[in-house]
Amino acid sequence: MPESTRRVEQVIEPQYVIEGAGVLLRRSFGPTRANPFDPFLLLDHFAFNDPIEGPIRGFPTHPHRGIETVTYMLEGNVRHRDSLGNLGTIGPGDVQWMTSGRGILHEEMPQRGPSGIVNGFQLWVNLPAAQKMGQPRYQEVVSAEIPTAEVKGASVRVVAGEYEGVRGPVTEIAAQPLYMDVTLQAGSQFDLPVPEAHCAVAYLFEGAGIFGPVGNGNVEPVKAVRMLVLGAGNHLRVRAGVDSHARFMLIAGAPFREPIFPYGPFVMNTAEEIQQALGDLRNGTFVQG
Ligand code: CO
Repeated sequence: MPESTRRVEQVIEPQYVIEGAGVLLRRSFGPTRANPFDPFLLLDHFAFNDPIEGPIRGFPTHPHRGIETVTYMLEGNVRHRDSLGNLGTIGPGDVQWMTSGRGILHEEMPQRGPSGIVNGFQLWVNLPAAQKMGQPRYQEVVSAEIPTAEVKGASVRVVAGEYEGVRGPVTEIAAQPLYMDVTLQAGSQFDLPVPEAHCAVAYLFEGAGIFGPVGNGNVEPVKAVRMLVLGAGNHLRVRAGVDSHARFMLIAGAPFREPIFPYGPFVMNTAEEIQQALGDLRNGTFVQG
């Protein structure tokens, strides 16, 4: 098949929102019935570094059903604790890929690192109808176990998927995701084959880069912080600016093309299934099978 490089279809400026108990974060998109980024439901960037924002209060106990939440930290950490007895800390460079299945209740408490900064991401990935009521599952990978591929000025931490023969440790996810933390030195280039049907976005959080094919007027770098929606094609190409590095999260996955019904921390397929989730919470039958 001939190579077709995806072009930027849309540039999204993340909007500040307050979530949990007063946590300020940058949201690129959240769950909607229109589901434009199927299989991805939400992308939040926690970045607290301004003392005026005050203490970090975190996300007190809340439920999830029907989705996966993926927490990837750059600086600082997130303490988490859940209804199944899991307890831990997601530190810098670590990832937690949490498959809620039929339900978990958990709390997530971000804490500043030594530099005073919390920096990280939470991505929500949908589950297909057949897996929404499955058993909860965690894949937790510490920083040292996430491989980095270094290729001609590109440094790529591969969480899921494969880049230049380096495979990410997170596997067996319904959406067949590619999830990578990509740093490009000034002037260097990143190339990656991507399945034609996958939805693909890039979250540029440092520097500047040109996303898409070289030439044809595509010469003006996009500057951080922006989310780029990448259109049709089977190949991704990104070049850092001539005098600026670029760092972005590359996020791609296979759409499920099912109707969804989001409600707060639940994403199901129908309104009736949301009523069921709320009923299970009221009756204390949310967590156990
Ligand atoms: Co949560």
